[in-house]
Formats: sequence, C-alpha cells, structure tokens
Amino acid sequence: MKNREVVITGVAGFIGSNMAEKLVMENRVYGIDNLSWGKKENLESLFKNQNFKFINMDVKNTEQLAREIEGKDIIIHLSANPDVRKSAEDSQIDFNENALATYSVLEAMRKSDVNEIIFASSSTVYGIPDLMPTPENYGPLKPVSHYGASKLAAEGFIFSFSNIYGFKSSIFRFANVVGRRGTHGVIYDFINKLKKSPDTLEVLGDGTQSKSYIHIDDTMDAMIELHGKGDGLFNIGTATRTSVLEIAKMVISRVSPGAKIKIMGGPGGGGWKGDIKVMHLDIKKALSYGWKYRYESTEAVKKALEELTVI
Ligand SMILES: NC(=O)c1ccc[n+]([C@@H]2O[C@H](COP(=O)([O-])OP(=O)(O)OC[C@H]3O[C@@H](n4cnc5c(N)ncnc54)[C@H](O)[C@@H]3O)[C@@H](O)[C@H]2O)c1
Repeated sequence: MKNREVVITGVAGFIGSNMAEKLVMENRVYGIDNLSWGKKENLESLFKNQNFKFINMDVKNTEQLAREIEGKDIIIHLSANPDVRKSAEDSQIDFNENALATYSVLEAMRKSDVNEIIFASSSTVYGIPDLMPTPENYGPLKPVSHYGASKLAAEGFIFSFSNIYGFKSSIFRFANVVGRRGTHGVIYDFINKLKKSPDTLEVLGDGTQSKSYIHIDDTMDAMIELHGKGDGLFNIGTATRTSVLEIAKMVISRVSPGAKIKIMGGPGGGGWKGDIKVMHLDIKKALSYGWKYRYESTEAVKKALEELTVI
C-alpha cells in the first residue's frame, strides 16, 4: 500500500495504532477513534507526523463519518468492542460496537463514494467447529459468543454492500493477535494479575485451553499483502497452538518467578461463558497467496511477553 489516502477506525487501539505507524511512512493516514478503549498515548509518535490526522469521533455517527471519509481511498475498519468476556455481561455492546458500527461505516462509504474496505473479523465466527484446523469455507457458522455473532453479522453486511454497491472488500478472521500495546487477552491479564498478587496466578478455565497466537507484525503484513487478493476472505493465524498453562508458566518466569498456579475452572473447562477451548485456523489459503509469517504461536507469545514487559 503506497501513496494512498487511508482511513483507520479504532486507530488508538492495539492493532490500529501499530497499523497507522506502519502505513504512515508511505501513505496519508486519517485515524478515527472515540477513545472508549484506545488511548491517545498510543498515537504519540503519529502526532509528530504530518501525514497523520486524528479525528476523535464515534463511527456510529454515519453523517459525520461520511463527511470525514469523502475522497479517501480505503477504510481499514478496526474499531470494535474487543472484549469477548464483557459481551456475556452486556448483550448490547457487541451489537452496537461491532454489528451496527460496521453497518454505519458501510453506509458512510456508500454516501461518500469510498469503495474499498479491510475488516478485522475473528476466529470466533466459527463457534465450536467439528473440523480443526478450521478452513474459511467451514459451515454452518454457529458463534457461541455475542462477540462472534456480531462479527459474523458485520461480515454479512460487508458481503451484501460489496455485492450491491460494488465495494472491494477483504475480511480477515484473526486468531489471537499479540504484541506491543495489546490491552486484552491472556498474556496481558496474567501480567496484571501477577503485578497485583505476585505469589499466586489465578488461571480461568482448566488451563488446557489451546489456541493459536499470531504476532502483530505478522498480522499487519497479512492485511497489507493479502487485501484485494482472491475472494477476499482469509483466516490469519499460525500453524501451531499454545496452551493457557504454557502461557502461565512463561509469564510467571518473566514477571514473578516462583509464583504458584491456581486453576479456577470454568464452564466446560473454558475460562468463561462463550470461551472457545480450542481454536486453530486453517491458514493454507493465506499462505497460498504468498503471505508468510515469522513467529509460530509460542514464539509470538514469547515476543509479545517481552514487548509488554519492557521496563
Ligand atoms: N486483538 C485480537 O486478538 C483480535 C483478534 C480478532 C479480531 N480482532 C479485531 O481487530 C480489531 C482491533 O482490535 P484491537 O485488539 O486493536 O482492539 P482495541 O480495543 O485495542 O482497539 C479498538 C479501538 O476501537 C475504538 N472504538 C471502539 N468503538 C468505537 C466507536 N464506536 N467509534 C470509534 N472508535 C471506537 C476503541 O477506543 C479502541 O481504540 C477489532 O475489530 C477486533 O475485534 C482483534
């Protein structure tokens, strides 16, 4: 991606701020965020760059969004409620921040004649699949969390807008993305828990939950290299998985050596209602289009742990 006018929603968040830093070198970047989760500190280096403009707004304000994005080339839509756990307590939040917000982005694109979108979807659209690793054409899709359901609804609108209005769209179903500035997920949780109580680490679920983790650098390369290729629907993850217990041991040895692990249990051995115990995406399609990743799942966790605990 070069010399383009790029809009990034959710720019003050984990993936958004990293993506903006990468793209601003060769593009003009307009970053949108309502700072509900994201932080202005994440944009510090970007504020110094003349090719970056920050717009503090809610993407659900369709009229304002349509005005802001007019004349731009591409929208990288990353804003969301990213917290799968929270969605079990508040069933409205995912509908509003993932489904409705994506609909608003698409409507704003239609009104302002912007016709290319990259969307961050998630492995959670597959629910608890019978087939592992799970390919993009697996079905029927039966999400088990409101988060997964709202991502699937968002995908549905992206397909229908693309069909009816001729948008170019790329949908990336990410595994767990980890790395610098990550603010949710198991590594971040464990680091914070150990800072508060250095002697014991409480592990939600039975600890055998096993998922694939991908580093932010590999995730960004996937979006940049694969957008516009094939049918535009790609799983992005790694060929390997890492268990929660392995992660617990890695975090303990770096943050609080000697801490004891306390297994807390949870519904069906998972961490919370709607948690998926084993997640492994089939990534052959993405690899077949030439994308390569550098870090296997456990290496990605290790690198992220180092990045999140820099003193
Ligand atoms: N991090 C992961 O492991 C992962 C995995 C799969 C998919 N995703 C998706 O990738 C995207 C980015 O995730 P992240 O980890 O960077 O999350 P994040 O919480 O760090 O960033 C999301 C950003 O969106 C902003 N935002 C939320 N609602 C908004 C609204 N209505 N208007 C404007 N801004 C709003 C928040 O303030 C935040 O800065 C999300 O769509 C998420 O669902 C992330």
